[in-house]
Amino acid sequence: MDLDTVQKQLVDSFAEQENLIGTLYKLYAKRYPEYKMFWAEMANEEYQHASMIRRIVKSDTANIFRFSQGELRSSNLDSSIKFINNLIIEFKDNLDFPITRAVSIALHIEKALWERKIFQYFDGDSDEVKRIMNLLNLEQEIHISKLNKFAEPFHKINP
Ligand SMILES: [Fe+2]
Repeated sequence: MDLDTVQKQLVDSFAEQENLIGTLYKLYAKRYPEYKMFWAEMANEEYQHASMIRRIVKSDTANIFRFSQGELRSSNLDSSIKFINNLIIEFKDNLDFPITRAVSIALHIEKALWERKIFQYFDGDSDEVKRIMNLLNLEQEIHISKLNKFAEPFHKINP
């Protein structure tokens, strides 16, 4: 397996991670009908992020795609994927899962992604790759602020 293959597998895991977050939000949308619109939109955006990530590889026609820092390991991604998968199982099993907890989990996941600066690790000389990276960074910030705004009334009820 050459380096490119390893790198591209990391991208696949990233995309999978976004898809899983989308799955979780979709479950939220079903469980909490009064907030259905919010979570359905969040879920769709996660699916869009996953396809944006997949597009990075496709845009990398020169095949020079790299992660610019060595801190990213597939084991980190694997444990993050496992964590989200477990959350999905837990959520499905617990029909009394409070919305406040659902929101704080979503914030935790999105902030963790942001703090790990995931979308700043991509490196490539294609303008399209850079454009997608920057867009993903921005989208991540938007998701955190959307969630913070959504969470506000819950803090007021339950400070
Ligand atoms: Fe997100």
